[in-house]
Amino acid sequence: DAGDIEKGTYPHYMLKETDEQPFVIRKIMQAYQNDQGELAVDADIVNAVTEADRLYIVACGTSYHAGLVGKQYLEQMANIPVEVHVASEFVYNMPLLSKKPLFIFISQSGETADSRAVLVKVKELGYQALTITNVPGSTLSREADFTLLLHAGPEIAVASTKAYTAQIAVLSILADAAAKKGGIDTGFDLVHELGIVANAMEVLCDGKEEFEQIARDYLSTTRNCFFIGRSVDYYVGLEGALKLKEISYIQAEGFAGGELKHGTIALIEDGTPVIALATQESVNLNIRGNVKEVAARGANTCVISMKGLEQEGDRFVLPAVHELLAPLAAVVPFQLIAYYAALHRDCDVDKPRNLAKSVTVE
Ligand code: G6P
Repeated sequence: DAGDIEKGTYPHYMLKETDEQPFVIRKIMQAYQNDQGELAVDADIVNAVTEADRLYIVACGTSYHAGLVGKQYLEQMANIPVEVHVASEFVYNMPLLSKKPLFIFISQSGETADSRAVLVKVKELGYQALTITNVPGSTLSREADFTLLLHAGPEIAVASTKAYTAQIAVLSILADAAAKKGGIDTGFDLVHELGIVANAMEVLCDGKEEFEQIARDYLSTTRNCFFIGRSVDYYVGLEGALKLKEISYIQAEGFAGGELKHGTIALIEDGTPVIALATQESVNLNIRGNVKEVAARGANTCVISMKGLEQEGDRFVLPAVHELLAPLAAVVPFQLIAYYAALHRDCDVDKPRNLAKSVTVE
């Protein structure tokens, strides 16, 4: 069938789509490059973003996790306040809105009913909306004022991989364009830095055995697992935990390292796997402290750090990329660890139980 052809020699779509990520990043860079070779976004969209007094990112699942990273970009690079909301909550429990909000919907499929319900509501209220989606002509794209496309190609596996990194890359381009428009110097060349990210992703995808081994060592029999991080590493941890839950059915939790001691650390027993991410210099020592805290209580710790921040005993060191873009590289090991954990546990990687690729009911 057509599916088999598209999968090529890959055993699963998820693996194929994980491998496509460096290519997708380069594709996005091409798609958003202007005649001067700079990354640019449609002027109307940049104006809508910079004229808003606050951005409300609304999304579900993996797209919500990309939104959390996007908040970091839009606030740090372009200096625009951002709130990120889960669509199913926002629609029934709307926060007090600012005077001139702009809504940004992030949705791989562009068809998620929970997000659409919010879009319908904010349009009724007369506000503008931008949809970031992989599917041109999708409902969320048609009903919003503006669309930014992900150019990730069809994503078939239920567990989202390349759409997540595409969303983050497009959000970085949007933040960069908004910064330029606002006369803010971000201090780095995004074209150059995204190129480095694509290369780093390639290195990670070429070294899969490493992540298969981590899955074997930490996850083959466990019932639970924690992903800890601080700052954006926490957000990537949320995505790592979601991937693991979705396809391996291991109870996984993404946690802010510093918050563990306020309750969750009670769950740490002898051998509990704790995967820690350390890509941010400003919190490197803090997360190291959290790793020590859980290790002292018996946790089986696995630290994934970024080149330049590594310490003795780290299980894996990511190739160096710009700190802000670290989620793009750091999520790849998490995707692959989840993939192999699911495989080792005989789970149906591409079609996990109880889940649908696109949820079109509220
Ligand atoms: C479903 C999928 C998730 C996805 C979420 C949002 O629950 O199983 O992988 O992240 O929907 O989908 P969207 O298409 O709106 O990004």
